Amino acid sequence: MRRAPLRRAAAAAALVLASAVLASAPTHAADAAPPAYNDGAAAFQANCVVCHGAGGVGTPALAPPLTSYPARYAQSPAGRRQLANTLLYGMFGDITVDGRSYSFKMPDFARLDDATLAALLNYVVFDLGHAPAEVKPLAPADISAARAQALDGAAVREQRKSLVPGGN
Ligand code: HEC
Repeated sequence: MRRAPLRRAAAAAALVLASAVLASAPTHAADAAPPAYNDGAAAFQANCVVCHGAGGVGTPALAPPLTSYPARYAQSPAGRRQLANTLLYGMFGDITVDGRSYSFKMPDFARLDDATLAALLNYVVFDLGHAPAEVKPLAPADISAARAQALDGAAVREQRKSLVPGGN
């Protein structure tokens, strides 16, 4: 009978696991809720999913997840400019996101209009990144301001260094 407590412990562990799975279910349900930025969601499907994956979860060794860093960038003026620059001019060079390296080229999307680019960023920042409600949505004017100062993808990557922990 010495094994019974062990079995009970195993059963308890299974229960904890099952409830952890259940507890995570509402998060998934929330992710499946209609996006606040519909136009951004549609443009994301059309232009970004191929690399960043559905829901912006990233593709290992190809493209980074967009589920946490962009929401943080959106909380500072330099970070908001960086988001606009990344879409307008792309990004080129090694970067690290959540401890993982990526080194591939993010293409530029300057051909899309300012309203579409702002909607795309708002979808990433608020629907995917769950930025706090007090963060101001990006406006088409933020995009046009960044259009006025052309960069290349390597410069966009350099500017990123000042925004992320560890500078890479
Ligand atoms: C061809 C693949 C590809 C496509 C398509 C693409 N990206 Fe990227 N994206 C990347 C790569 C690769 C990086 C990292 C670049 C590097 O390593 O310098 C990146 C970086 C980013 C970053 C910066 C992340 C950070 O932490 O600084 C954002 C934001 C972003 N992409 C958003 C988008 C959005 C929005 C779209 C659609 C309009 C898009 N990307 C389309 C490959 C892609």
